[in-house]
Amino acid sequence: MSILKIARMGHPVLLQRCTPVTDPAAPEIRRLIADMIETMEDAAGAGLAAPQVHVPLRLFVFRVPAGRAGDGPDDGFEGNAVLINPEVELLGPERVLRWEGCLSIPGLRAAVPRAPRIRYRGLDRDGEPVAREAGGFHAGVVQHENDHLDGILYPMRMQDFSRFGFIEELQRAGAFAAPAPEIRS
Ligand code: NI
Repeated sequence: MSILKIARMGHPVLLQRCTPVTDPAAPEIRRLIADMIETMEDAAGAGLAAPQVHVPLRLFVFRVPAGRAGDGPDDGFEGNAVLINPEVELLGPERVLRWEGCLSIPGLRAAVPRAPRIRYRGLDRDGEPVAREAGGFHAGVVQHENDHLDGILYPMRMQDFSRFGFIEELQRAGAFAAPAPEIRS
């Protein structure tokens, strides 16, 4: 396994629509998944999409750390998970602001509008079908990673840029202490 180089915002690989994985069991896909998990853990991230490591395929890895999980059954602790060729459906018109970062936008955080509940399907690392509903952090990270597969970075989802800044400055200002206000759109 190896730690992969992460593309940063501005690199064109982050702006393209990725192509589906044709054979999830192929050795190069298995190796890519193992390397992406190692890279995500090394970078202390909650998710990593293939285009972020310069591979424009529809595949991402993610996790829900115990400290980020909510109370509901659809937002519990989740170890390293893999989703190949995902389809994500936003449940309902409601959007909530959640603090997000991105390994391709290091040092920054923003409050980004996301659907609080989603339904998603795809294939797991063994090529087996997955179909789940998710809420809370789990729903947010899946929306964020799925956006990467369509060339969308979180600033492209923002409407209010007053809650966008460097992590150190936001911490100093106490921005993370108060929950991001709920918005509807
Ligand atoms: Ni990201």
